[in-house]
Amino acid sequence: MTNAIAEYEKTLITPNSPFDRYLKGDENAISENAKKGYKLFLKLGCQTCHTGPAMGGQSFEYADLKGDFFAGRAKTNDDNGLMNFSKKESDRHRFRVPTLRNVELTWPYMHDASAQTLEEAITKMYHYQLGYDKLDKKEVRLLVAFLKTLTGEYNGKPVQGEVCPAS
Ligand code: HEC
Repeated sequence: MTNAIAEYEKTLITPNSPFDRYLKGDENAISENAKKGYKLFLKLGCQTCHTGPAMGGQSFEYADLKGDFFAGRAKTNDDNGLMNFSKKESDRHRFRVPTLRNVELTWPYMHDASAQTLEEAITKMYHYQLGYDKLDKKEVRLLVAFLKTLTGEYNGKPVQGEVCPAS
């Protein structure tokens, strides 16, 4: 069983994104803005949750860690997150950290599809995961440029999908 899962997980990996090529030494694989975005991603601590080769998928975190993610709307059963499965109160609002691989193709974002664009998703991260009041629009643009370099290949061909709208 474990082997079967491991084999299955290998098929999920979509290698050879521009970012992977950059990490392997191809300086021209990504833009200067994307490189700045990657530095920012590390500096801000995004990788503490979006970690590992898939840049996510390894832990469950509180959607409302640093602010009221659900402000302005009624909560639904789906907002309970992991608690719906574990039945533990301490797991309320905990969600699996999504992988950022191919993220420009996986919109809408968040468990409740409350972000349509990468800009909106990053804005939520600033408020609810990092606890920042202010948003630096230039930083958001650099992070978007970086996230767009994470689209890889599946069976040797670019991963297919509709690119998310821009804000
Ligand atoms: C403390 C943990 C944590 C940190 C730090 C964090 N994230 Fe997230 N991120 C999450 C969780 C949890 C979700 C899913 C929330 C949900 O489903 O409601 C998420 C969702 C996202 C999504 C949407 C992906 C999708 O497919 O829905 C993007 C994009 C994203 N994060 C980027 C970032 C960036 C960029 C940073 C740094 C500025 C960052 N995250 C910092 C935990 C974190």
